[in-house]
Amino acid sequence: MKKILVAAAVMACFGTAGAAEDITVDVAVIGAGGAGLSAAVQAHELGANVVVVEKMAMVGGNTVRAAGGLNAVGTALQQAKGTKDSVEIMFYDTMKGGHWLNDPALVRTLVTKSASSVYWLLAHGGDLRDVGLMAGASQPRTHRPTGGALVGPEVVRTLYTAAKNLKIDVRTNTHAEQILTDKSGRVVGLKVKGKDGTYTIHSKALVDAAGGFGANNEMVAKYVPRLKGFATTNHPGATGDGLLLAEKIGAQLIQMDQIQTHPTVVPNVGEMITEAVRGNGAVLINKEGKRFMDEHAGRKIKSDALFNVIGKDENYPIAIASEEIVKAINPSFVKLPIEMGTVKKFNTLEELADHFKINKAPFLEQVERFNGFVAKQEDPEFHRILKFQNGLNLAKGPYYGIEVAPKIHHTMGGVMINPDSQVISATTHAPIKGLYAGGEITGGVHGASRLGTVAVIDALTFGMIAGEHFAAM
Ligand code: FUM
Repeated sequence: MKKILVAAAVMACFGTAGAAEDITVDVAVIGAGGAGLSAAVQAHELGANVVVVEKMAMVGGNTVRAAGGLNAVGTALQQAKGTKDSVEIMFYDTMKGGHWLNDPALVRTLVTKSASSVYWLLAHGGDLRDVGLMAGASQPRTHRPTGGALVGPEVVRTLYTAAKNLKIDVRTNTHAEQILTDKSGRVVGLKVKGKDGTYTIHSKALVDAAGGFGANNEMVAKYVPRLKGFATTNHPGATGDGLLLAEKIGAQLIQMDQIQTHPTVVPNVGEMITEAVRGNGAVLINKEGKRFMDEHAGRKIKSDALFNVIGKDENYPIAIASEEIVKAINPSFVKLPIEMGTVKKFNTLEELADHFKINKAPFLEQVERFNGFVAKQEDPEFHRILKFQNGLNLAKGPYYGIEVAPKIHHTMGGVMINPDSQVISATTHAPIKGLYAGGEITGGVHGASRLGTVAVIDALTFGMIAGEHFAAM
C-alpha cells in the first residue's frame, strides 16, 4: 500500500541529475527528505540561493513512508479538540519515551517550535487537520491529514510543491561524495556525482539531511549485533552515507547504538502496521489468548515484550482490531494488506482464534475483559491509556488480525547538533563552521527510543532551523 501511495506522491518530475559543471550557491543541501526539503524551502524564502542533491531517483526519503502523523503541541487544531496538553507534558512524554537519554535542549526546541512547524506546513498548502492519539503520548497531539490519511506523502507533496514553485534546484540521482572544507575547517562545499560525472558545489553553508542508516544492515549490526539480518521499514537509501561524510570531516557521532525496532511489522512481508491502529483500540494477543503488555507503551518496551513472546520458536503475536477501529482511522492504512491477504478478515473472534491457533477460551475472556476496561477507562492489567475515539472497542465484528514482529525502524544516533542545528566537532566540541544537520542523520533528539510520529516533526523543525540560520549568514 505504502509503496503505491509513495510513488504517486513523489514521482520525481523535476530535478534531473545536474550536468558535471561546478556551481556556486549560498546553501547546498544533502538529501531531499523532510529535513532537506524544509531547510531548502526555508533558506530560499529567506533569500538564499539553494541547491539540493538527492542520491535516489525520487525525493521523500524516509519521510514519505511516515504513516501515523506528526506530534505537535498547542496548535489551534489540537485545542479545538479540547485536549489538555502543554509544552511541558509533550517534553515529559518525549524524554520519558527516550528513557531520558535525549538531549533536553534539543527536545525543548522541538517541542516549543512544534506548533509553528505545523503552521508553516499549513501555510505552504499542507493538510494536517486531523488530531489523534499515538502510542507513547499521554495526550492526543498527532496531527495528520483530514480523515487520518498517511502523513508522509502529504508532507513531502507539500514541501516538494513549494520547492518546485520556488524553482529550487533539486538534483535527484546525485550522490554526495565528499564534504569540502578550507584550511580553517570551515565547510565550503561538496563534491557530488551526478549522472554526467563528478563536480563541485561551492557553498557558504551545507545542511546534511541525508537520513539515518536503518537500511544498512552491516552498519546497524556493527552497533547492535543482535539486529544482524533484520529487515527494515526504511527506504533503501537510508544507508548512512551522509553521516559518514560528516564524520570524515570531524563531526561528533553520538548514541549510534540506539536503534529502534517498530513493534508491529508483518514478519515476512515487511509491511508496517501503523500504531494509529493501536491508538484507536487494537490489542496484541499471544497464542495463549492473552494480552502481554500495554499496547500503548513506548516502542522499546513494546519491542522487548514482543521479542520475549516470539522467542526462538517464532510464536508471533497477533494484532487484532474490529472493523469499527479500522474505519476510524483511514482505511488506506490496511486496504492493501487486506487485499494482499496479509491482514485477514473474520466474522467472529472464534474464527480468528481458529485461524491463528489462539487458545480460544482465555482469548474470548480476555477480549471481553478488555472491552470492560475501555468502558471504565481503566486497565488494571497493564495500565494502558484508553482514550479511544467514541469508546471504540472489540465488542462487534467483523475483525481483522495479523501476525506481527519488530523490525528496524529508526536510528536514533547520528551527528551531534545543537539547538541551532549546527553540527558539533568531535575535537573542538564547538560547531563546525558552515555545517548544519537535521532529521534522522542527527543523534540526541530521541534518546533510547523515538516516540511514534516524532520523526517528521523532528525533520521539519530542525530542517527549518537550519534553513533560517544559513539565510542569516
Ligand atoms: O506506526 C507508525 O505509524 C509509525 C510512526 C512513526 O514511526 O512515527
